[in-house]
Amino acid sequence: MLPNDPQRAIREATAAAEPRLIEMRRDIHRVPELAFQETRTAGIVAAELARLGIPHRTGVGRTGVVGEIRGGRPGPVLAIRADMDALPIHEETAIDFASTVDGQMHACGHDIHTATLLGVAAVLKDLAPALAGTVRLVFQPAEEVLEGAAAMIADGAADGVDMAIGFHNHPDMPVGTFGYVRGASLAASDRFDLIVRGKSGHAAHPYAAVDPIVAAAHFVAQAQTVVSREIKPLHPAVVTVGMFQGGTTYNIIPERVHLKGTVRTLHDDARDTAEAALKRLADGLQATMRVTCDMTYVRKVPPLVNDDRVLEPVIAAVQRQMGAAPEPGEPSMGSEDFAEFAARAPAFQLRIGSGAPGRDDRLHNAFYQPDERCIGLGVQALSRAALDILT
Ligand code: NI
Repeated sequence: MLPNDPQRAIREATAAAEPRLIEMRRDIHRVPELAFQETRTAGIVAAELARLGIPHRTGVGRTGVVGEIRGGRPGPVLAIRADMDALPIHEETAIDFASTVDGQMHACGHDIHTATLLGVAAVLKDLAPALAGTVRLVFQPAEEVLEGAAAMIADGAADGVDMAIGFHNHPDMPVGTFGYVRGASLAASDRFDLIVRGKSGHAAHPYAAVDPIVAAAHFVAQAQTVVSREIKPLHPAVVTVGMFQGGTTYNIIPERVHLKGTVRTLHDDARDTAEAALKRLADGLQATMRVTCDMTYVRKVPPLVNDDRVLEPVIAAVQRQMGAAPEPGEPSMGSEDFAEFAARAPAFQLRIGSGAPGRDDRLHNAFYQPDERCIGLGVQALSRAALDILT
């Protein structure tokens, strides 16, 4: 039976679950685990799903967990995905549940995400008889290295999924607010390694050597023309060389230089253009600068493209539950491997405001302190979205 007043039913169920969710979030926060090492976190998730009587599978994509809530009637499969991994950052907050692991911290709020999806599990479990369809709860490892989604999908986590919802906390939005972006919202993330080989020699006799440092410097300068001269100005793109390593001292021309870079794009044609251009520039360097170039180019994740078929019902449901409409926002050139799920089924990623009053927080920051109220608010919004989509 559909509750007479779904808003109230969800609000009350969330309020009942909230103290436990906060306790679990703090427990996870104290012991952050890096990509594919989330065994303790996955254990907390599995134990909670077991306590709620929700059938689940562990070891999906190495350290992921998938639970399933079957509705009272047949219908589509709606996946809701949370990520669980932490970052290699040393926590600098003074909170009493700060990380106890040196050099590791939940600085992207994935502890918040894990607790939020456990809250959704608790609320939807009770509403299951009213649902027409299945809610698949996807607890994903290794988002920060953009590999966990692909690993879970390889283990069947996206099989049979008709639509998917993701979410991320946003400290630049005050707690209590929600946001969305229509269409491409997060960038494709690709990366390259370029080894430029010259011929080492005495710095005083460059004519007798082939200098890979000067050649690699040319590559870095030329790479700036990829976005400015080759990609359509209305298609956002970023090419950044983040590492330039070579040489040892004043008077030696080294044998080789190693560059690492990242390419972010929102559109497939910009993505293709950037890859082709960077490879062409590396090839050209061999003729113009006498070096040899060896480029390894890896496409990590596609752009995250929100689909109106999921976006519309979710933002309508959030408005019904929370009484205020989510705010439209701008795309970001950051990346998220929820895009792998979105590439396989219509999907939408909801932004959940997590900014605490008076704080100016950023993600991936040693001082990050999301406002924990975003957990309960996220539980309400996501539970209502699932309920409305599956009834
Ligand atoms: Ni994150």
